[in-house]
Amino acid sequence: MNVEELRLLAREASSRLDQVTSHQSLEEFRVAYLGRKGKVTRLFEELKTLSEEERRPLGRELNELKITLERKMEEKKSSLASSHGEKDESFDPSLPGLRPSYGRLHPITQTVREITGLFERLGFEVVEGPEVETEFHNFTALNIPLDHPSRDAFATFYTKEEENREPYLLRSQTSTVQIRVMQKRKPPLRIVAPGRVYRPDQVDASHSFMFHQIEGLMVDDRTTFSELKGILQLFLRKLLGPDTKIRFRPHFFPFTEPSAEVDVNCFLCQAKGCSVCGGKGWLELLGAGSVDPAVFEQVGYDPKRVQGFAFGLGVERIAMLRHGIPDIRMFCENDLRFLRQF
Ligand code: PHE
Repeated sequence: MNVEELRLLAREASSRLDQVTSHQSLEEFRVAYLGRKGKVTRLFEELKTLSEEERRPLGRELNELKITLERKMEEKKSSLASSHGEKDESFDPSLPGLRPSYGRLHPITQTVREITGLFERLGFEVVEGPEVETEFHNFTALNIPLDHPSRDAFATFYTKEEENREPYLLRSQTSTVQIRVMQKRKPPLRIVAPGRVYRPDQVDASHSFMFHQIEGLMVDDRTTFSELKGILQLFLRKLLGPDTKIRFRPHFFPFTEPSAEVDVNCFLCQAKGCSVCGGKGWLELLGAGSVDPAVFEQVGYDPKRVQGFAFGLGVERIAMLRHGIPDIRMFCENDLRFLRQF
């Protein structure tokens, strides 16, 4: 290799580059000169065999040639891209277009929307509240006494303690939203509050430290327990089918009096008894009751003038039962094979 040879190659390359008119021939050019076995690349190999004095000047010139060619190829590429009339062989207008892939709603969101949608048709308004709450909204105002076990530090997620400030915590129930709404508004009220709640439970197939609840509240100058029953029956029949039977079992909640747990006949085995309902033929779905007068006092309502009822349900549980989902952890694993089924 010598200087003449190198200059000849430079001239040849630039005249060939001038003739390039498509992305494809540009690529052919690149391969021929700068590719692994290209002419310029080969000269770099040859350079190694030369003596020190020969190598220096030739090396410099060869490097310059390489840089020039790379720059000119870039220029060519952008002029090809911007020249409209020119045929771009890499673009095939007859190929079908790329279909954008739409996502879908998470099964929990779908279940929340379906349930809140049913209550909206019954005149309930959907409201949301904060997940980081005060002890007042999560416990005190809900008539949950100071010595109640759920107030223990290990039974609720508390934030770091600070002086002169009521402790903050992650709400353990969406009943907090009842309090927030009643503090702000006067009755009559008809609300449903969906959202996440947190409890430091050991995670297993049916427990999680985070899950979703929907809480309902109705307040008026007069409400009755039979209205509560009627509304829940209507709701559960819409959700689970017209043959759904419901049953109220006496229970205790600090914020409702009287309170009940609400069961439906097991729709998986038609109440014959299966492993999901534990052979009982009934599934527990809701907590409910008449709002305790002590709660009305906490929010400045006159318990002699107003009445109300509240209910709460777990969204994961309902979604799991309806879709036959065996493990609550599946909702959070982000496994598309699971999520695409809904
Ligand atoms: N908040 C209760 C729970 O988390 C459910 C409930 C809501 C019960 C409203 C009665 C009235 O278990």
